[in-house]
Amino acid sequence: MKKSLFLSAAACLIFAACATTGSSQAQSAPVTPSKPSVPLSAPLSAQADKIWPAVKSPIGLDAGIETRIDALLAQMNTAQKVGQLIQPEIKNISPDDAAKYNIGSVLNGGGSWPTGKVDGPLAGWLALANRFYGASMDTGDGRLAIPIIWGTDAVHGHNNVQGATIFPHNIGLGAANNPGLMRDIGTATAREVAVTGIDWAFAPTVAVARDIRWGRSYESYSSDPKIVAELSKEILLGLQGHPALGNFLSEQKLVATAKHFIGDGGTAGGKDQGNTVLSEQELFDIHGQGYVQTIGAGVQTVMASFNSWNGNKLHGSKYMLTDVLKGKMGFDGFVIGDWNGHEQIPGCTKSSCAAAINAGVDMIMVPDDWKAFLDNAVRQVNAGEISQARLDDAVRRILRVKMRAGMFDDGKPSTQRLAGRAKLIGHKSHRAVARQAVRESLVLLKNDNALPISKRANVIVAGSGADSPSMQSGGWTLTWQGRDVADEKYKGFTTVKDGFEQAISSGTVTSDTATAADVAVIVFGETPYAEMEGDLQNTDFDLTSSADFKLMQSLKARNIPVVAVFLSGRPRGVDAAIQASDAFVAAWLPGSEGGGLADVLVEGDYNFKGKLPFDWPANGSGQYKPRGYGLTYTAAARQ
Ligand code: GLC
Repeated sequence: MKKSLFLSAAACLIFAACATTGSSQAQSAPVTPSKPSVPLSAPLSAQADKIWPAVKSPIGLDAGIETRIDALLAQMNTAQKVGQLIQPEIKNISPDDAAKYNIGSVLNGGGSWPTGKVDGPLAGWLALANRFYGASMDTGDGRLAIPIIWGTDAVHGHNNVQGATIFPHNIGLGAANNPGLMRDIGTATAREVAVTGIDWAFAPTVAVARDIRWGRSYESYSSDPKIVAELSKEILLGLQGHPALGNFLSEQKLVATAKHFIGDGGTAGGKDQGNTVLSEQELFDIHGQGYVQTIGAGVQTVMASFNSWNGNKLHGSKYMLTDVLKGKMGFDGFVIGDWNGHEQIPGCTKSSCAAAINAGVDMIMVPDDWKAFLDNAVRQVNAGEISQARLDDAVRRILRVKMRAGMFDDGKPSTQRLAGRAKLIGHKSHRAVARQAVRESLVLLKNDNALPISKRANVIVAGSGADSPSMQSGGWTLTWQGRDVADEKYKGFTTVKDGFEQAISSGTVTSDTATAADVAVIVFGETPYAEMEGDLQNTDFDLTSSADFKLMQSLKARNIPVVAVFLSGRPRGVDAAIQASDAFVAAWLPGSEGGGLADVLVEGDYNFKGKLPFDWPANGSGQYKPRGYGLTYTAAARQ
């Protein structure tokens, strides 16, 4: 991002309506932009106008940038303009072809690595970023120098990169509900992404999951819109920076994404990519608050959602993407489509969809069929199916974000300050932030005098999740689904069992469940999943066939106290396990710093802090726990 950065004179308070009309770079005195985006939005009805607020971004239009865009637009032909709207996956395009077709962006999908191997060299990321950037800025053959921007799902750390710090997934961060820590997490994540030369993170997810059968519930901070709004804003400030902090899109920051607009967490039955049936007021009240806060904090991109609202796919909704988001709310960055999300619009295919662009998707995430989409879109512009005004508006927004990020002027990725600094990947200071987040995310649901565990105790630590980097991290970790990679590839991890071995100073820790012990910690839970592969018909959790549950029962029969630790992307119906254990801890998906569990479960400096971010289902013997529930040692002692 930008190398030289100095604050405009009137540094505004972070959350007061910022008076600045210029960007944080004092390039030019703020004046009325020479050519504001063509007003393509229609006014809302009087009723809708009362629902959706105008949101003032702290990053106003900058006359210098808008004039520079005018000049560039005037040099671009239709094919060059359309190229900026296309985002292929890195496996499917070479840097040379990206330059040849003036492609605006690339992405790496979950589990897509530059060298095709999870344990490929870290330097491979920066080398490929350099190649894409260098090709896009090469003006040979009369091409225009327009930097390509690489987007990646850094949704709980730089999670595709081996050795990166993996933070707890959002559900755990919602349980911790610590806004200051969220900013630290965003800052650490942005630093690790900057090491690899990537400029854009598809985060934060601002979903408000309302039915935990949804396979993406763990990507939601909470079912409470207020918690989602506050935590989204804070992590965004860490990821992108802010003019009032003097670090907006600086070299240690990223372009970020509020996603998925809108109503992704509200679908009927929790069906991923399903239909959210709500009044417009309910849609805003429940699912719109994260967008108000992140646009108000300067988010530069918004990702359109796969779901429908009242039967209409969001990717094809001009009303939502243009009239509401861009028109009334005033979002002036760009809208990125989701993974072939455009093809779900009636009449569209992966390779052809004027409707998505006309609705207000500015950049199309078309991982494979990018060349066909490009050719079809050029034809659709020439045929008038996509207006020049709409095309120019999309290109203007994309160029605006790239210029705000300093990409035109800062030189290739490897010249950026953090680029190539491998020691920052998994840096101990980042892991310390992650370990604090793990501690604060833990929710104590039951404790019949089994916790805390003495440092002198003889402890059994067993169960399918005791030594499992994949189970403690879940989806979006090294791969899309968070599976299919051997444990030893999860570099830099401490497992739950590792943490007990560190914490039990004068006792013993064993995985041998046949030995005598003072207490047994049994770690069990969900195996990794992502998106639709995690959807459920009901929240029951099958314990009858669970070896872990049978182990709990056998230990209890030997009068060994059992502490159950549940690793999951959401609450599940585990009443029998709660009944069978002496203590029960909801640990969510803690990520690489599994040692944080022992920090709290073994006597020492830390108490439980976490509170349920979602209701915990009853599923049987009435163990229902409302959102906000969570015991602490003192409270448990009084239980
Ligand atoms: C996925 C997800 C989205 C992600 C994108 C790129 O389908 O819906 O959250 O950013 O594709 O991986």
